[in-house]
Amino acid sequence: MSFKTLDTADLAGKRALVRVDINVPMADGQVTDDTRLRAILPTVAKLRAGGAKVILLAHFDRPKGKRVPEMSLAPLAAPLAGLVGAPVAFAGDCIGPAAKAAVDAMKDGDVLLLENTRFHAGEEKNDLDFAKALAANGDLYVNDAFSAAHRAHASTEGLAHLLPAYAGEQMRLELTALDKALGDPERPVLGIVGGSKVSTKLDLLRNLVTKLDKLAIGGGMANTFLYAQGHDVGASYCEKELAETAREIIRLAGQHNCKLFLPIDIVVAEKLAPGAAARVRALGAIDDEERILDAGPETVERLCRAMANSKTLIWNGPLGVFEIPPFDKGTVAAARYAAELAKAGKLVAVAGGGDTVAALNAAGCADDFTFVSTAGGAFLEWMEGKELPGVAALAT
Ligand code: 3PG
Repeated sequence: MSFKTLDTADLAGKRALVRVDINVPMADGQVTDDTRLRAILPTVAKLRAGGAKVILLAHFDRPKGKRVPEMSLAPLAAPLAGLVGAPVAFAGDCIGPAAKAAVDAMKDGDVLLLENTRFHAGEEKNDLDFAKALAANGDLYVNDAFSAAHRAHASTEGLAHLLPAYAGEQMRLELTALDKALGDPERPVLGIVGGSKVSTKLDLLRNLVTKLDKLAIGGGMANTFLYAQGHDVGASYCEKELAETAREIIRLAGQHNCKLFLPIDIVVAEKLAPGAAARVRALGAIDDEERILDAGPETVERLCRAMANSKTLIWNGPLGVFEIPPFDKGTVAAARYAAELAKAGKLVAVAGGGDTVAALNAAGCADDFTFVSTAGGAFLEWMEGKELPGVAALAT
């Protein structure tokens, strides 16, 4: 897909409406992970260097078309200013007189953050009048929010049809890295899909088995596959009603020559609690009251061998309950090995999705991955092979 980037944009003196995703985790009014704030810095810097007025549009949380004071973007202006290294002004509305007055007061190179776009119902409805009201304050539109591109909202999609539209630097980085992993990858390509529910990842699994050379299934969803193959899963989380679906995915993988890696040993415990007594067991060797909470060491070792024999890795979802040690062991060991291969230039390792990134951060190896997406839902939809409206709208 081709799209315009800021390299070709005439920026001097222009009002650039920049859709960013600064939907960051907060606690007690403080940002607890500023990854998404840092991700927009290259675009902001490029626009400022080109002499544009940088007007940031963003959502925060899900206020559902109403003004919810706890979901104001105001607390993000100061941390952003600290990272940008320049003042970031704030306007209490993203359209109307407050927005216009703040934009009119800007000088070239200034940065302004507008209030939560989702305070207006028109945002999520992709309402044309609302999009026009946003567009009134800009000469050009930059979408730098790959992680919100699965939403066809006024600020992520509608605006692209009203103003000259460009992909920001983070958007470009995401699209390039993801294309390298799934669009036109160096083969063999190995996927790891974990997490608890098969039901939320059916489209993903069906798409991946047609595209990848190998696919490892981990986390709670592996239990459903083990059950479907006739193994006892004790008191484990398991979507028994999806057993036939799991068998269908196994068949589909066979038809497409995608080698499936299901666990060959398991870590079980009676209680899911920090430091709980964990036991390594063979498949099916589980008591009625025990639960499978992590991949076993042989499973992890085999997965690492599969990584070493691959050129590209794409990872979504942890292998076990990584938030609660010792059930983080499988995920941490596999993540560290992938990072080692990536650092040595032997593997293109791409990861994404909220839990996955948290797991890589906990394992201390996110920085060594080739690319870690800032996206949660958008990364999943992209892996499912779906068109992302925010990306499609940028196509030239
Ligand atoms: C995200 O956090 O994944 C994006 O900001 C999208 O948020 P949403 O799921 O509320 O649309």
